[in-house]
Amino acid sequence: MNYFEPLTAFVDLTDGTIPEATAVQRRRLVDLKGLFADSQAETARLGENPLLYEVHEAAEIPKKDGHQLFSTTILRPGTVGDEYFMTKGHYHARSDRSELYYGLAGEGLLLMQTPEGRINAQPMRAGAACYVPPYWGHRSINTGLENLVFLAVYPADAGYDYGTIAEEGFAQIVVTGPEGPRLVPNPRYRGGGSRA
Ligand code: PA5
Ligand code: NI
Repeated sequence: MNYFEPLTAFVDLTDGTIPEATAVQRRRLVDLKGLFADSQAETARLGENPLLYEVHEAAEIPKKDGHQLFSTTILRPGTVGDEYFMTKGHYHARSDRSELYYGLAGEGLLLMQTPEGRINAQPMRAGAACYVPPYWGHRSINTGLENLVFLAVYPADAGYDYGTIAEEGFAQIVVTGPEGPRLVPNPRYRGGGSRA
């Protein structure tokens, strides 16, 4: 038997980085072009092109059935128009693969949706262990004033389907309101009904 060696990755709890990360991905506004509901506000911010989030990948683990991958996400606070900074969001390419998010810092929502466009939003903050069941698309949203930081653990063969979210979006978005964050219908939503 060719055993894969156990390992430990240390997360810096002051900022959510993984100093020994094997890869760091940075996503700026341009990488989410077309996903924010207020396209004028989006275009206005594109010159500045703010950094929205970083993903720190913990280790080089084979992307094969049986293994699990894990990473931290550090999502900055801010808005585009009145919509909070968020991740691109995805379904898993193997859509029956689930995921666990563990909140480390900040405040936000884990927005999930079925392919039919049914929405479920779970609270994200330090100590929250949020379960993303099979088939649910998922996106994180920073509704606070500090970075939203969480650890994600998921099957190594899950993969990413960003295309469906790029084409259809989420049925609802999270915007600022006088009484705090609220979920409202997404005027740019193009899904529902076409996928079973
Ligand atoms: O595996 C996950 O779901 C997370 O690690 C996300 O990939 C991460 O939060 C970044 O979001 P996205 O992949 O939608 O850009
Ligand atoms: Ni995922």
